[in-house]
Amino acid sequence: MSLDHFEQGLIRVTELAAVAAAHTMGFGDSTRSDKVAVESMREELDNLPMSGRIVIGEGERDKAPMLFIHEELGTQKGDEARTAAGEALLEVDIAVDPLEGTALCATGAPGAVAVLAAAERGGLLEAPDVYMQKIVVGPTARGTIHLDAPVSENLRNIAQAFDRSTSDLTVVVLDRDRHRQLIDDIRRAGARIRLIQDGDLSAGISAAVRGTGVHAVMGTGGAPEGVITAAAMRCLGGEIQGRLLAFSDAHERRLEEMGIEDKNRLYSTEELAPGQDLLFSCSGVTDGELLRGVRFFGGGSRTSTLFMSHRRGVIRFVDTIHREDTAQPVRF
Ligand code: FBP
Repeated sequence: MSLDHFEQGLIRVTELAAVAAAHTMGFGDSTRSDKVAVESMREELDNLPMSGRIVIGEGERDKAPMLFIHEELGTQKGDEARTAAGEALLEVDIAVDPLEGTALCATGAPGAVAVLAAAERGGLLEAPDVYMQKIVVGPTARGTIHLDAPVSENLRNIAQAFDRSTSDLTVVVLDRDRHRQLIDDIRRAGARIRLIQDGDLSAGISAAVRGTGVHAVMGTGGAPEGVITAAAMRCLGGEIQGRLLAFSDAHERRLEEMGIEDKNRLYSTEELAPGQDLLFSCSGVTDGELLRGVRFFGGGSRTSTLFMSHRRGVIRFVDTIHREDTAQPVRF
């Protein structure tokens, strides 16, 4: 199988997870939405010709039945499969978020996606499932921000990079109590805010694409989402800076277990996703800024995916019709 075929395989993984999740849209059951996306993603990843290893997944082995951290997947997993296949070994680390925005999918709200990042071994930080303080900007404002700078200073610098005033910026922030001060600071600096209920990963991608009307994402969200955002930023030329945060004793323990000693460390984009062979695939589940949600037309579905390869410098928007029943006509 060529590299191109492998990439097509990764696209299919997020497409099918998106379709599975989209079937549950609006049913108000986020656990079920997540479960079907996880099952689909696991099955498809396991069919890929690779020796894959989950570095960011659904949790620890004892808590997550599937896509647990360090689970091995792919037809080349284990020595026997490798020998039998006689293929060149493709060792891949994978970070998955089979359904980013579970509550968005459960309520039919915009912005739910199925997403993964892949890289050579060691190409993605094995971040524990804790929180991360983040700031994300696109290529235009890359190099102008610092996580520890005052909000007003970051906004001034971003505005300057965009050659506009701060009042013409839109910053996306997760609507959480912990962001009261941040929201206050942004308002005082004069920038506009888009508060979102969930999904700071897709918001980060939007910030890196001109025309979405998003200029930055600020605030604290999931650390795993931060690593996957970093992979996307490497492919898009954007920037994320992050710091791991523990909000509970369990989080503290996770940091310790992962051997993270410097709890104040600020991670750059390249430290979060250091790989050279970074691949990224993200399929819309519900409609979003960049990607359309899954459409069903009777005999199948239509998906919208953003696929990127860092090494090859490819950014591809993929629009796929999946014909499940070929006897039925395609209506789209
Ligand atoms: P899920 O899809 O796992 O529900 O995560 C959605 C999300 O909003 C992320 O985008 C974000 O990083 C994180 O949750 C924020 O966590 P919390 O909801 O605990 O503030």
